[in-house]
Formats: sequence, C-alpha cells, structure tokens
Amino acid sequence: MPLDLEIIESAAAMQARARDLRAAGKTIAFVPTMGFLHAGHLSLIEIGREHGDILVASIFVNPTQFGPGEDLEAYPRDMPRDLALLEEVGANIVFTPTPEDIYTPGFQTYVTLEHLPNRLCGLSRPVHFRGVATVVTKLFHIVRPHTAVFGLKDYQQYVIIKRLVKDLGFDIRIIGGPTVREPDGLALSSRNAYLNQDQREAATCLNQALARADQMVKEGIVASRDIIAQSTAFIEARAGTQIDYIAIVDPETLEDVAQVDRPVQMALAVKIGSTRLIDNRRLNE
Ligand code: PAJ
Repeated sequence: MPLDLEIIESAAAMQARARDLRAAGKTIAFVPTMGFLHAGHLSLIEIGREHGDILVASIFVNPTQFGPGEDLEAYPRDMPRDLALLEEVGANIVFTPTPEDIYTPGFQTYVTLEHLPNRLCGLSRPVHFRGVATVVTKLFHIVRPHTAVFGLKDYQQYVIIKRLVKDLGFDIRIIGGPTVREPDGLALSSRNAYLNQDQREAATCLNQALARADQMVKEGIVASRDIIAQSTAFIEARAGTQIDYIAIVDPETLEDVAQVDRPVQMALAVKIGSTRLIDNRRLNE
C-alpha cells in the first residue's frame, strides 16, 4: 500500500507547504498532539477531516509545558505506530518538528494569559499553560490552519486556546471534541500507560465521581461545597489516590461557582500513585 501520509519534519517546509495549500485554495484543519496516539486523538482527526480539505496533525512533545520534575523524559513515544494510525485515520500531513526547530537558539518569547492559567491544573503546574499557549501559537503560525480541533478532556487547555485565539486575533476556528472513554468510563490518556493493574482499576474513580456529582445535581443538590465534599470522600475511599483538586467552575472564566444553578463545569485532578490524571464534566446542562 502506498503511504498517503506526508511526513514533514522542518518548520520551514511545513510553513511553505501551508502557504502553497492556501494559494491553491485548500482549507487546512489542524490537530496538535504530543503523540502516543489513542482513540481520543484519532476522534479529533476525524472531526478535523470534516472541517477542512487537508488534515494536518502534529506530533511534538513540547518541553516548555513540562515543569521541573514532571514526566518529560518518561513521556511515552512510539512514532512508527503513530504514523500507521494517522495513515489509517486519513490524516494528510503529519508535522514532526524537533525541539531545536521550535525553540530556535536564543528563543525568549512566550505567550502568557493573565487569569485563566491561575486556576485548576495551573495551580500545581505553574509553567504548563505558558508552554501550551506558546507552542500552540507557534504551531498556528507554522501550520496556518483555518480550523483547529482540541479535546474537551483537557478543558482548561481548550478554554485557554479559545481565549488566546480571540485575544490575539487569530483567524482560526477552534472546535472542541468530546472526551473518548474506555468502556469503564476512564478518559483515554497517553498517561494511562503508566498505570499498573490496581491503579488502572482505581483510576475509574475520576469519572465515577463526576457521574455521581451529575446524579446529585439531578436530585436537587445545588451547593458546590456539598457536591465537592461527597466527591472528595468518594475518591479518598480508594487506596492509592491523592486529590490535587476538585472544582466546580464557570465554563468560560473557570472561576469557582458556589451554586450549580446553571450549566457549570466540574473538573478534577487526582494522582494515582505518581500518575496525575484529569477529567471533567458539564453539570446541569
Ligand atoms: P495531547 O495530550 O497529546 O493531546 C492532544 C489532543 O488530544 C488535545 O487536544 C487533547 O485534549 C486531546 N485528547 C486527549 N485525550 C483525549 C480523549 N480521551 N478524548 C478526546 N480528546 C482527547 O494536549 C496536548 O497534547 C498538548 O498540550 C498540545 C495541545 C499538543 C500542545 O503541546
């Protein structure tokens, strides 16, 4: 079978290709990833394919979004498998830059947001969203997409990217793709690969806590404090778990809300052993 997937390694070559595609009147849909692809990533590519003539995916484990002591070196990688999956799902181009090509010598320009990163995951990962906003901005300039697709699984990231695009005037439509889950509800994540069998079983508590919260709201409990207290007790009852945060927030500002009296976002981060997992769900839709 001929390889239909075009692999572009350099930023200059990708930018030139994007320019030619645009000149030829093609629309570009873009799905940025850090690789080790799973069905969640592939679902975003399928969504992207519906929104552009040419689907570009990127694979780049972005060093600046990992803090000191985080899992940059251990982050799982499998390029041959990723390329086969991208080919199978019908991606047209994969952009696989090196860190040196993105962070050119003397690099010193970062994109930071004033408020959105100082919440939820940003509290325990202080440099994370600066790295995400910077690399996504740079990737947008290189790939020049008309549309980009991000997973709602990383809800804070999705809100930050939407804000950034609006604030900096990018002419790019951002689409949020629904979270793809294992049959038992665990959100797919490249980091699930770190879990042993007991931890994998314990990891179901994130989605279960969210489902129970949803049920509580349906039964008329509206105080965020009560919902968070019950969710905390539920997760703490599982051995080997350590809660980073459980929050009920405004879906756009990510500020805490006291009452679930309108659609709100519940988000949580839990360490299972040394693996930090996140999940979220809309309540009172
Ligand atoms: P990564 O974790 O590889 O995720 C790439 C995209 O896949 C993100 O938009 C993420 O939200 C989405 N995704 C992850 N798990 C998903 C699931 N179970 N269902 C649906 N979508 C899912 O997020 C990043 O990479 C990076 O921060 C990046 C945006 C590439 C910048 O470096």
